[in-house]
Amino acid sequence: MSPPGPPSWDQVRAEFLLDPSYAHLSMSLVASHPGPVRAAVERHRAGLDANPALYFHHRDDLVRVVLDRAGAYLGAAPGDIALTDSTTAGLAVVLAGFRLRPGDEIVSTAHEHYAASEMLRFKAAASGARHRVIRLYREPRLVTEEEVVSALREGISDETRLLVLTWVHSGTGVKLPLGRLGELVAEVNRGRAEGREVLVCVDGVHGFGVEDFRVADLGCDFFVTGCHKWLFGPRGTGLVWGSRRGWDAVTPVSPSFDVEVFWPWYLGFSPDDVAPPGRRFSPGGFPAFEHRWALAEAFEFHTAIGRTAVAARTRQLNDRCQEGLATVPGVSVRTPVDPALSAGMVCFDVADVPPDVVVERLLEARVVAGQTPYRSSAVRFAPSVVNSPADVDRGVEALSALVPGLTDAER
Ligand SMILES: Cc1ncc(COP(=O)(O)O)c(C=O)c1O
Repeated sequence: MSPPGPPSWDQVRAEFLLDPSYAHLSMSLVASHPGPVRAAVERHRAGLDANPALYFHHRDDLVRVVLDRAGAYLGAAPGDIALTDSTTAGLAVVLAGFRLRPGDEIVSTAHEHYAASEMLRFKAAASGARHRVIRLYREPRLVTEEEVVSALREGISDETRLLVLTWVHSGTGVKLPLGRLGELVAEVNRGRAEGREVLVCVDGVHGFGVEDFRVADLGCDFFVTGCHKWLFGPRGTGLVWGSRRGWDAVTPVSPSFDVEVFWPWYLGFSPDDVAPPGRRFSPGGFPAFEHRWALAEAFEFHTAIGRTAVAARTRQLNDRCQEGLATVPGVSVRTPVDPALSAGMVCFDVADVPPDVVVERLLEARVVAGQTPYRSSAVRFAPSVVNSPADVDRGVEALSALVPGLTDAER
């Protein structure tokens, strides 16, 4: 008998309890749990409810499975991965904990999400470091790799120690060519003394569970992500991968409750000498255990489908979305078409109509779209493996139907 092959897309979709009366084109906000994740959450919850203190004793075995699968997925050592509750919590681990000297500079971009930009404001205030914000492109639809690379080259100064980038910008859909940017930073660092290099922290949440990658391809020192978006992991889960050089440059901001950290401390040793960095940088205290432990099943679910298949399917649906939107009068798309510069979301504007009005009207047609959480907000379709091509067509058709039907007052 041959081993079972990967599931069909119908089988993948059948694992979700999504309301079938809607086209769900906003899954980049927060995940619905697929069957194996729901079952694992329930299993751990039942164990904790029946005998919490006893079930708690399994925590290290359960965390080990999560870290092993996360490591296999990222192509990284499990000991270099810290577990968090979200992308935002992971950004706090790196950005709040990063050690800076007087005169050091942080560089980030005008394309960061609220979470990173506010965190850096707090960090600059607390550390006295200078924080400079650069723009990597002017017109997202027309962005080129050369434009981004040259903006970054000009943006790094001799004082820059920390560079904060977001892989896929959730306000424009632009995906940065991280490999090339990593090469540029490596070139800058070749001229630097040890300990004075530029370290790169990437908010990777909208590439994680979308792109077919290994963390080493990205040329960064920290990869920060939530697992409750495209990976369809348990809500309230996230992780940080750090290079050894990266972890050496940060100080924990919250004591880890990990077994491998607590016990050395309890026995009078320094955990810094014995525990792997990922364990030391996992912020304590107790997380929602049943969700954290069920993250193992999310990696398994994704891996069973196949990361290459997920990436190709997401691409196919997004291409279809771009093609459809190009036919709707009054719609201007912000996201580039080039797969090298875009990922799983298409952000767009409707002439003279505020995005909240578009989102509301689409909802009346049972199409769930997103509104980007930026001051210059847009409407966003984020087709993923939970969608069929027909969902994408439904989104485009609903938009075509509502554009001529909008009243002057709504415009
Ligand atoms: C680019 C980016 N970073 C961070 C976040 C926050 O993610 P989390 O809810 O995992 O903290 C979001 C939210 O959508 C985002 O778009």
